[in-house]
Amino acid sequence: MPKDQIFELLTDPGGSAHGPTLKVGVVGCGYWGSKHVRVLTAMPQVALVVAIDHDPSTLSSLARRFPQIGTASALADVGAELDAVVVATPARTHGALATEALESGCHVLVEKPLATSVVDAERLVRLGDQRGLRVMSGHTFEYNPAVWKLRTILQQGSLGEIYHIYTARLNLGLFQGDVNVVWDLGPHDISIVNYLLGSRPTSVSAWAGALGHQPVEDVAYLRLHYPDIGLVAQVHLSWLDPCKVRRVTVVGSRKMAVYDDLADDERLKIFDKGIDAAEGAAPAHGQIAYRRGGSECPYIDFREPLAIEDRTFVESILAGEPVPSDGRSGLAVVRVLEAATESMRLGRSVDISYGANIEPGHAAPVEPVPAATVGAGSARNGSRPAIGTEFGEAR
Ligand SMILES: NC(=O)c1ccc[n+]([C@@H]2O[C@H](COP(=O)([O-])OP(=O)(O)OC[C@H]3O[C@@H](n4cnc5c(N)ncnc54)[C@H](O)[C@@H]3O)[C@@H](O)[C@H]2O)c1
Repeated sequence: MPKDQIFELLTDPGGSAHGPTLKVGVVGCGYWGSKHVRVLTAMPQVALVVAIDHDPSTLSSLARRFPQIGTASALADVGAELDAVVVATPARTHGALATEALESGCHVLVEKPLATSVVDAERLVRLGDQRGLRVMSGHTFEYNPAVWKLRTILQQGSLGEIYHIYTARLNLGLFQGDVNVVWDLGPHDISIVNYLLGSRPTSVSAWAGALGHQPVEDVAYLRLHYPDIGLVAQVHLSWLDPCKVRRVTVVGSRKMAVYDDLADDERLKIFDKGIDAAEGAAPAHGQIAYRRGGSECPYIDFREPLAIEDRTFVESILAGEPVPSDGRSGLAVVRVLEAATESMRLGRSVDISYGANIEPGHAAPVEPVPAATVGAGSARNGSRPAIGTEFGEAR
């Protein structure tokens, strides 16, 4: 888009009957950024979306789909005129682009991971604090109604004492050019477990192998220690697996839960299964009663998590309220990723320090947004939309 045209749009993006509005830039409009563009253009509180990408063909195809958007080839060209920016470029560029957005006076939502080092992530949190700007981490699963439901079930104690949580995020690919599987996929599972438990791990032991494509690690196992609740969570990540899996399993003393993000209608299943040892008996064969009860699937109204996330970002800015998955929760995840990297190098467990200067606090719960207000994301009754629809698949 010619510069005079984009400046015309930026100075007069058109009014709205819905009160105050924002001008939002999306830097990086590839697979995931284009979904942010789609979601943001559907929001009445967003007066103008500017798609920003180095690649002119990406911009022209987006402009054909969404004729109302502006386009620009670099954040530097438009940053000063925007209110907020979504950073959806490859991971290694997050720190620099989010810094640039904040220095231009914009609130920023950064895709996972928040940055690729603790130093960069701390800088973003500090800069946001100093300038009174929101820094939000794109922890999409914290805006997923199935994850909300699982968290509620855990908080209600319906599963009993939680023995164990493990997650699996496996597929053949997609190999990323700039980070390994731990930094690409790990943020999802670390943020999910932190969110479910309302806690943060204090140490991590990790193993990863560059099995198929040296030197980038494509398979990894993480053990996250949560001593405050006496729990160890295991995270299995892989770009080298025959089966696509996106699953969280919670094993409790009374019941067990499985959240399968790929399931059609039964994304969350609660199993009435477990063991009941006879009181005082040693756990020997014959003295354990196995409970093999039925299962139930709580109703979950499917709403697109990305639409909820972006709406939360925009509404928090307009209301002057903090964002739920803020920079501190993104920083906490980056601390785990960096400690996991160190653990892989040293071959032993590594403690995670949360630092006194930027105290991360605890993951804030996301208040479910009433279905009627999340129009862009509503789908058929409790189910995922059919494959091939516009909905983004969290990767
Ligand atoms: N939350 C989720 O579930 C989820 C899912 C997929 C991807 N992601 C994240 O989204 C980000 C992008 O992933 P993707 O799969 O869309 O990648 P992609 O390669 O499809 O898109 C990246 C785009 O960024 C552009 N770009 C790179 N550097 C730029 C710069 N400095 N200025 C402007 N444009 C630039 C590229 O031209 C490209 O169009 C990654 O951080 C990834 O972790 C998140």
